[in-house]
Amino acid sequence: MIFFAQPVPHPAQLTIDFTHPGVSVSPNLYGLMTEEINYSYDGGLYGELIRNRAFLDDQKQPAHWSPQGQGSAISLEKSGPTVARPMALRVKGGAANDGYWGFPVTPRTDYQLSAWVKSDSTGPILATLESVSGSTVYARASLKGVTSNWQNLETVLKTSSGIKPTTDARLVLRTAPGTTILLSQVSLFPPTFKRRPNGNRRDLMKMLVDMKPQFLRFPGGNYLEGNTLADRYAFQNTVGPIESRPGHLSPWGYRSTDGMGLFEFLLWSEEMRAKPLLAVYAGYALKGEYIKPGPELTPFVQDALDEIEYVIGGAGTKWGAQRVKDGHPKPFPLECVEVGNEDGFDKSGSYEGRFVQFYDAIKLKYPNLKVISTTGGKDWPGLMFPMVQRSPDLVDEHYYSECWDMMAMATRFDGYSRTGPKVFVGEWAAHDLVAPWAGENPNGPTPNMRCAIAEAAFMTGLERNSDVVAMSCYAPLLVNVNPGGHQWAINLIGYDALSSFGSPSYYAQTMFANSIGNQTVPTVLANVPMQTDGKRSQSGLFASATRKTATGALFVKVVNALSTPQDIELNIKGASVDPTGTISVLTGDLKAMNSLAEPKNVVPKTKMLTGVSPSFHCMLPPNSISVIKLRVGR
Ligand code: AHR
Repeated sequence: MIFFAQPVPHPAQLTIDFTHPGVSVSPNLYGLMTEEINYSYDGGLYGELIRNRAFLDDQKQPAHWSPQGQGSAISLEKSGPTVARPMALRVKGGAANDGYWGFPVTPRTDYQLSAWVKSDSTGPILATLESVSGSTVYARASLKGVTSNWQNLETVLKTSSGIKPTTDARLVLRTAPGTTILLSQVSLFPPTFKRRPNGNRRDLMKMLVDMKPQFLRFPGGNYLEGNTLADRYAFQNTVGPIESRPGHLSPWGYRSTDGMGLFEFLLWSEEMRAKPLLAVYAGYALKGEYIKPGPELTPFVQDALDEIEYVIGGAGTKWGAQRVKDGHPKPFPLECVEVGNEDGFDKSGSYEGRFVQFYDAIKLKYPNLKVISTTGGKDWPGLMFPMVQRSPDLVDEHYYSECWDMMAMATRFDGYSRTGPKVFVGEWAAHDLVAPWAGENPNGPTPNMRCAIAEAAFMTGLERNSDVVAMSCYAPLLVNVNPGGHQWAINLIGYDALSSFGSPSYYAQTMFANSIGNQTVPTVLANVPMQTDGKRSQSGLFASATRKTATGALFVKVVNALSTPQDIELNIKGASVDPTGTISVLTGDLKAMNSLAEPKNVVPKTKMLTGVSPSFHCMLPPNSISVIKLRVGR
């Protein structure tokens, strides 16, 4: 790839103008949004490998469990050890679990097995990680010390070297000959990120850390709201010992174990060095149930205050003490609380009243917290539910837009009012041929290069307007690519039980978030060729520039949405520039995607730039996203 171009007669020009002041870049501009969708946690980031570990997915039959061996039998009964674990699996002979589309078997790996067990016989239980056919045993160990009382027994299954990584595996528990056991909560964890017990999958965490997110918005999304009031995200049920968490039905059609509970969301943020951004349940469920503002809403407001107390309360407070007991004496660095999710869908018009009640209670107890509203649209014309009684600190705007429209939104915030609330683009993503809510995507559930280009164009707009756009996060973040694993058609990072990959959009996000200054430098594009879709036209190039005032680092981002290479003349006005720098480029066919089979089909490549001067040329490949890093003096 050639980066320096022979000047063409009328190249596009990008002036990076240090003679005019820029604006401060929000330190929280890039973060992550997450919820339980597409098997994001169970069968995804959360390390647990046993599917239906507590036999609660279906109380009529032991889903994902099957009898193993001649004369074996398994059945469910209501005789579990705790209130939150009412079910037990009676096993005669052997029982196998099929995992989340298999198990990740890798060489020289320790798998921590635990199971609540009781039996009239004391014989050991043989545990094997073996191929689905049963012909290959990858690891074996015994659970010993079984008694007639419920106990949580533990052992480690270790694979040897020389095993070829595979998902073709199941876990089998076999009883001593002729005996019957009762099982409750069977758990198997591979080594987790930073070896945290009940922790997260390593490969996915590495990818997330590489994104340098400044915050993590959780727990949703629709997942916060639930289809019904009964299925809302109730944080109290998601903290404390795992066996005390009942789990709940998510609006995405499957049951959540809540192994990834409030505590784990907080630890996950901490492990990424990101701040938690907590969304609290605000009294509206997806199918339309809502709580009227007033006394009926008071308990829900109290729940939110309790939840915040869990996150930042001192050891002397009820919920702060619970956090300490759960293992984290230090409060977490909470700055923002979001009240609800997409409450513009609440056509009863109750949101403003509900928001006022939450806002006042939160501000009274925690005046330093920023409160986010969710009817969106700071400057949307004709917004159905504008907030007039209280001014939120931020408004959450969601954009799931077709690529052309997403690119056109690169200038959306240029004209936004600079007074009043800041904007939090709390969910956004571009889509190409398939709308994300279609669920299934014949091309696979991750975006292609065209989406990445549109998103990068949009991000140049976020950066240039970072004085008003304070925060942003793509959604959804994670998808299990197995058939039946996804409910949303376009998602950032894909995986199965064993491996993972970032979409081109993942790389665009990572490139942008890793190269950002604390101050914008005004940019002007001239002589820009237009792009057209046959009916409409818009700019073919998009750009932003930010600098780190402390170091002189300058980050110039240029998106070439055209299908031809573009010679661009960069003019740095009002500053000297070092003669060397780097350029990282993400480019590929518009339809190009990454996948489990081809995880690195589209990835950024970085090269040195030499001969940089206040006016120099760069050749931008067709369909490309470039991040140019330079050093300037003034
Ligand atoms: O990101 C998927 C869904 O899109 C979220 O749950 C919801 O907030 C939005 O409508």
